[in-house]
Amino acid sequence: MVNLQKCAIIGCGQVGATTAFTLMKSGLFSELILIDLDPEKADGEAMDLNHCLPFLKPAQIRAGGYDDLADAALVIITAGANQKPDESRTDLVGRNVAIMRQIVPEIVSRNRECILLVVSNPVDILTQAVLKLSGFPAQRVIGSGTVLDTARLKYLLGRRLHVDSRNVHAFVIGEHGDSELAVWSSANISGVDIGDYCRVCCASESAKTLHPIFDEVKNSAYAIIEKKGATYYAISLAVLRICEAIIRDEESILTVSTHCQGHYGLDGLCIGLPCVVGREGVLQILDISLDGHERQGLERSAALLRELIRQQHL
Ligand code: LAC
Repeated sequence: MVNLQKCAIIGCGQVGATTAFTLMKSGLFSELILIDLDPEKADGEAMDLNHCLPFLKPAQIRAGGYDDLADAALVIITAGANQKPDESRTDLVGRNVAIMRQIVPEIVSRNRECILLVVSNPVDILTQAVLKLSGFPAQRVIGSGTVLDTARLKYLLGRRLHVDSRNVHAFVIGEHGDSELAVWSSANISGVDIGDYCRVCCASESAKTLHPIFDEVKNSAYAIIEKKGATYYAISLAVLRICEAIIRDEESILTVSTHCQGHYGLDGLCIGLPCVVGREGVLQILDISLDGHERQGLERSAALLRELIRQQHL
């Protein structure tokens, strides 16, 4: 029986540590276990986080080992090499698949009931690796997918159209990486087709003038890494959003990376798609309508992931 108030984070680098801080501030969990190859690093992060508690709700935050995650409802994997300025996410695949091969057996030998949330990159391939290595049902192995990319698109569109980004509804799907795609055909502002919204509220813009925004979305990580070395704030909020949907059984629609079997004509790979996420993990993959261009883009993205899966023998 897992403890819904308990979460373990494996990897205390910038993403893992920031995620721990974000989860602690949210109050979603009352117990956070931090695990890292360097126990001193995990312990230092736990100490620093514990000093926040007088400003927050009580919680147990501590560094630990794999034995400590035995009853965690959620195990978040952020461990692995991260992108350097001249690297793509897929350049990390060999190193990080090897790290998953070490980590996953340690987890599943202690806890076979948790949900595994993969954040390390390339997240779709590593989600596939964790699914295969864990032997867990597909619904309980989730990748952060294109949740962050979708948020970036919503932010940039909201800024351009002078509207609250929370009222912008537009999916980014596919690989969390260079082959991802925006689903412009169903993009809307509180139900108003984005093209119609431009005609009525923002005459200087049109669906056509907005499309180049997606290039900024796709290249965001490269631009941020070039300036400050890594991204970690927004991904930590994306992880929180997924954790909330799971722990609170929210049945939220999020573009997580999930094992696709037949949807969109895709089979046998983990890829970012709109999914209903709740207490049991991915409850359903949504078959949203795609235009011809978007369907081709998704198939191209899937083909790239399939080749990486083949190369890694996953
Ligand atoms: C990014 C990392 C999380 O897109 O891949 O910022």
